[in-house]
Amino acid sequence: MNAALDRIAKHGRSYEDPIAAIDWQAAEAERPWLPKGLLLGPDFQSVMPDDQFIALSRAEYTRLCAAGLWLEGLLINRVTESGLLGLETEEARVMLQEIREETGHSLMFLEMIDRAGHDDRPRLAGTHLLTAIAKRLRIETAEFWAMVFIGETVTDTFAMKALKLSKPADDTICPVAEQVLNLHHREEARHIAAARQFLASRVLGMSRHRRWIFARTLYWLLNLFLEATMYPSSDSLQRAGVLDADNLVLRLRRDPWRQEVAAACAAPAVSLLTREGLISMTQLARRGA
Ligand SMILES: [Fe+2]
Ligand SMILES: [Fe+2]
Repeated sequence: MNAALDRIAKHGRSYEDPIAAIDWQAAEAERPWLPKGLLLGPDFQSVMPDDQFIALSRAEYTRLCAAGLWLEGLLINRVTESGLLGLETEEARVMLQEIREETGHSLMFLEMIDRAGHDDRPRLAGTHLLTAIAKRLRIETAEFWAMVFIGETVTDTFAMKALKLSKPADDTICPVAEQVLNLHHREEARHIAAARQFLASRVLGMSRHRRWIFARTLYWLLNLFLEATMYPSSDSLQRAGVLDADNLVLRLRRDPWRQEVAAACAAPAVSLLTREGLISMTQLARRGA
């Protein structure tokens, strides 16, 4: 019996459907969906007109929703593929609670995408390889839970930063966007704790050789993931009504502010996976050089 998993399962016992829990009537059309302090560096903030920032914030928010749909879909796929055979009862219970919540999150994200009023949901560039790798991994492996830990901590840290930066009165966001972020964060904190437990128990069974190989690929995968999820595509900005989208995408990719946000979102995953010996210290040193 794993006491930590037992606790996680107890906290996940009750469930509320996010579509019913969110007060959709509270939407305020003139407010952005993410704070300026998160999306733009100080120089950039003062030059972007409010209506353009609202369009940008909706495009960036729906990208986060699209990333959520992708990750949650893959998690559901991998967990259910196993038929839950070979899992301890408590592991199976926690994973099923998670699937129940991830399905609710995905429905909530689709609702937000609909409400953004764009024709379609944003396409995430650069996901093919990550999807192919994730679909080969089994839930019995540490590699799978290391990838889940990355996916959940990167997106959750982004959401937490958004909530924190939207506190000052001049950077508040639409109340519905805020409720969605809060609801997701509450449940995601438990998923992250579970992924940590699943990872820790599986790392023990890894051979030194397997750990060595994985440590050389995981940091590269993390960077692919950041590329796919942290920056908007020109197509999604155009669809959201952002002017001069091609130019803006290039500026955002080069913006040190945005690069710092991406690095800060990766920090919890880098720190845990380095401690577990799953990210090579040599690669980290090379990045810092
Ligand atoms: Fe989720
Ligand atoms: Fe999750």
